[in-house]
Amino acid sequence: MTIKIGVILGSTRPGRNGEAVANWVLEHAAARTEATYELVDLKDYPLPHLDEPVSASFGIYQHEHTRQWAAKIAEFDGYIFVTPEYNHSTSGVLKNAIDYLAKEWNNKALGIVSYGGAGGVRAAEHLRLIAGELQLADVRQQVTLSLMTEFDWSRGPENVTFTPSEYSLGNLQTQFAQVEAWAAALAPLRAAA
Ligand SMILES: Cc1cc2nc3c(=O)[nH]c(=O)nc-3n(C[C@H](O)[C@H](O)[C@H](O)COP(=O)(O)O)c2cc1C
Repeated sequence: MTIKIGVILGSTRPGRNGEAVANWVLEHAAARTEATYELVDLKDYPLPHLDEPVSASFGIYQHEHTRQWAAKIAEFDGYIFVTPEYNHSTSGVLKNAIDYLAKEWNNKALGIVSYGGAGGVRAAEHLRLIAGELQLADVRQQVTLSLMTEFDWSRGPENVTFTPSEYSLGNLQTQFAQVEAWAAALAPLRAAA
């Protein structure tokens, strides 16, 4: 069984730092042998503020944008959320995209790669609470990227570059292994559902 992991880029802001972070995740994911990783850029799924009349837990989707989003998310056995920290939480666009669906997230594995002034840890912790409601199994290993030490600001705030450390790369490798292991272990539950 080849595991499929979606790397969800949780920022759609012009000039977002998240794009470089997601590309770094994918660059190193390419060497994995047990799983394939695919970018899911929320820019490519321009969902309005949640506009489905029926709660996602019923799986009755009225809008084509929801059906397309649900079909994409259903393809995966697990996810890596690449999240910025906005006001001590994840981004509104990622939360909105999560809220659109329910069963598509269930019994899958989740790794969180966060970035922000304090490594995005508050965004990551909020996502762990959300994951609990979605039966989405969040692995222990976080990748927390400090805006102060893992990004280069020397050319000003409009030209920030991502300079990830070896330490963070090691954490990412551990996270890959944990997400793949749990994505595989939960396969019988997905099959039974
Ligand atoms: C609306 C907003 C709120 C933010 N709030 C926080 C915050 O609470 N804590 C923090 O460490 N950084 C905060 N930041 C800094 C972001 O983490 C940083 O700008 C990051 O690059 C945002 O991700 P993005 O560039 O991919 O959109 C905030 C940025 C924005 C735009």
